[in-house]
Formats: sequence, structure tokens, C-alpha cells
Amino acid sequence: MKTEPRKLAMITGASSGIGFELARVFAKNNYDLIINSSSNSLMDKVDELKDLGVEVTGVIADLATREGAEELYMKANYAGRPIDVLVLNAGVAVGGEFLENDFEDELNLMNLNMVYLVYLAKKVMKDMAQRNEGKVLFTSSIAAEMPGPYYATYAASKSFVQSFAEAIRYEMKDTGRNITVTALQPGPTDTNFFERGNMEHTMVGESDSKDDPAQVAQDGYEALMKGKDHVIGGSIKNSIQAAAAKVMSEKQRASIHGNMTKPDSMKQ
Ligand SMILES: NC(=O)c1ccc[n+]([C@@H]2O[C@H](COP(=O)([O-])OP(=O)(O)OC[C@H]3O[C@@H](n4cnc5c(N)ncnc54)[C@H](OP(=O)(O)O)[C@@H]3O)[C@@H](O)[C@H]2O)c1
Repeated sequence: MKTEPRKLAMITGASSGIGFELARVFAKNNYDLIINSSSNSLMDKVDELKDLGVEVTGVIADLATREGAEELYMKANYAGRPIDVLVLNAGVAVGGEFLENDFEDELNLMNLNMVYLVYLAKKVMKDMAQRNEGKVLFTSSIAAEMPGPYYATYAASKSFVQSFAEAIRYEMKDTGRNITVTALQPGPTDTNFFERGNMEHTMVGESDSKDDPAQVAQDGYEALMKGKDHVIGGSIKNSIQAAAAKVMSEKQRASIHGNMTKPDSMKQ
């Protein structure tokens, strides 16, 4: 009996957290994988994912740089297989007061979360357009729905991703292209994100009710497969928070969000 060839998904930021769990969901659903992150720890994950019975290629590349983004795109295309699903998930936060934070860290954030995300989306979606087929998942955030004091550039970057995803989704439909675009909006999720972003000593960083990244990834996968525009990942409280944010003033949203992200907010 002839079996269908496996499809291929490319996932950025897949060495840990939500990205790794997304890679696991795709592998369990019989996708071959190209996974990326910027550190050597990625290669341990390649081996772990191969145990699920699919082909896995790891590409270590820094997606906060143009060279890194180009390298990932080139290596992904080397085997000549089309990318059926693109998951742009890699992202970092920079916690703390804007006036105290280092601009180089913020530049790294903006390059990774926005600039080279746009670059990779453009390169891969042009290829998808040639075949008139493809699916794209962006890891956005519920932080996209509100200003984010004490990680201002991060929340702004996620508003950018959310708006960008919704806009190009519309364009794909409006121009009759068979490419779907979905935004995954997690709430606080139990990953390395807070420690890496210098946010572990905040109310949100120390909260013990964060979501399981495996559940968030499953929610993202299902929404992508259904061709939904967006999904609030994780527990119901995130959906309630996102809905409440829509009816609050900008000032109220900033105040509530800022209480959760203020450095040492647990001590107050
Ligand atoms: N955790 C949350 O509460 C939360 C909530 C909403 C949205 N999100 C979003 O979810 C996404 C995944 O974050 P996470 O929570 O899973 O955190 P995480 O565990 O820290 O994962 C971040 C991933 O991005 C990779 N990465 C970081 N810098 C990179 C670079 N310059 N080039 C390539 N890869 C890079 C990391 O790998 P290396 O260190 O190996 O490079 C890692 O694989 C991010 O976009 C984040 O904004 C997270």
C-alpha cells in the first residue's frame, strides 16, 4: 500500500518552551521537522524528536541577525523540499524600566521578534504562494492586546506581530491565495521566558498558575489546522483577560498589566 509522503514544518525557537512543544505536536502528527534556535542545546532536542519517528533537521542560527535568518532559509531549502508549515515562534522579552534597560538588548528583541520574523515570513510565504499552498503560525501573545509597562518593547513587539499576522491573513484571502495565517496568543506560560527576560522577580514571573507549554502548543496546532485567525492559548483565564482588555481604557490596561510586570512587584 502506498503511503502519503510526510509534510514538512519549520519551527523557530524550538529548543525549549512553547517552540519545543510545538515541534513535539507536529512530530506526533507525522510531520518532518526543521527546527531552529541560536544555541547548541537545539541538537539534544533534534535527537529527542527523532525518537518520535520523523526526520528532524536542526539549524542553529541567530534569528536576531540577517545572516542568521538567511542561513536558516538557505539550509531549509537545501534539501529541495517545500515547507508546508512555517511556525515563527522564537521570541524574547526584556524586562525592567525602559530608562534602565540596555538598548542593545532591546535591539536584539526588536530584530528577533519583528524584523527577521517579517523577513522569514516573506521568504517562505513567497515559496508557498508559488505552490499556492501553506500554513503559517505566529507566536504572538495576549500582551499584544495591551500596553506592557516594564517590558514595553516586548508588548509593543507582540502588538506588531498580531497586527502583522491579521493583516497578511486578510491579504492572503483577499488575493485568493491558499495560505492561512494564524496567531497563537499565549498567556503566562511555564517556560524559560521570564528568567531569560529578567522578569523572574515580578508578580507574573513568580506566579505558580502559569500554563503548561504543551497545552499552549496543542491549542496553537489545532487552531492552525482549522485555519483560524487566532487562538488564545492555555487556560480559560487568558481568554477572560483578553476579552476584558478589549473593553478597558488604555490606561486601565496599562495599569493592570504593569502591576504584573513591575520589577519586585511580589514584595509590595
Ligand atoms: N512564556 C510565556 O509566558 C509567553 C507568553 C506569551 C508569548 N510567549 C512567546 O512564546 C514564544 C516562545 O517563548 P517561550 O515562552 O517558549 O520561551 P523560551 O523557553 O525562552 O523559548 C524561546 C525560544 O527562542 C529561542 N531563541 C531566543 N533567541 C533566539 C535567537 N536570537 N535566534 C533564534 N532563536 C532564539 C530560544 O532558543 P536558544 O536560547 O537556543 O536560542 C528558545 O528556543 C516567544 O515568542 C514568546 O514571546 C511566551
